[in-house]
Order: sequence, then structure tokens, then C-alpha cells
Amino acid sequence: MRRDEGLIEEGQEVIDEMEKGPVLDVALIAAAQKVEHYEIASYGTLAELAKQLGHADAKKTLGETLQDEIGADQKLTRLAEGGANDAAKVPAQEA
Ligand SMILES: [Fe+2]
Repeated sequence: MRRDEGLIEEGQEVIDEMEKGPVLDVALIAAAQKVEHYEIASYGTLAELAKQLGHADAKKTLGETLQDEIGADQKLTRLAEGGANDAAKVPAQEA
């Protein structure tokens, strides 16, 4: 199994195990961000390798893909910070 398949499977488990609602939404955002971070690490490494090996076209393409992945991660962060995290807050129970 490829690592990204494991991350996707982890996201599916979240869907299967949690009730629909704001907490599930936050868990899905987190699961999606794990995938984006994996992709950012992978494309960043490959883009640098392509650069060092002198493959300018590959470096350009991988660099563009890296920027797409960074953009997707930033959108997910905005989604979390723009209300999803607040919607999932549960008031602390008094002892
Ligand atoms: Fe992605």
C-alpha cells in the first residue's frame, strides 16, 4: 500500500466512525491536510532533486505542482480557521 493510500483510508475510517456534524468536519479537514502535507514533502523533495540533476523542465512542473499543493493546504487552513474549528468546540463540563 502506498503511504497516501493509507492516509486516504484513514480519512475513510474517520467518516465511518464519526457522526455527521462539526467535529467530523474538523476531522476531515485534518485528514485532508495530512494528505496535502505528504504531497508537499514529496513534490518539494522531487523538485529539488530535479533541480540538482539539471532537469529544468521537470523542476518547473514539480515546482508548479508543489505550489498547487501548498495552495490546497492553505485553503484547508482557512476553512478550519474560518469557522469549522469554532463550530466544533464543545463547552467544557464543570466538575
Ligand atoms: Fe493535494
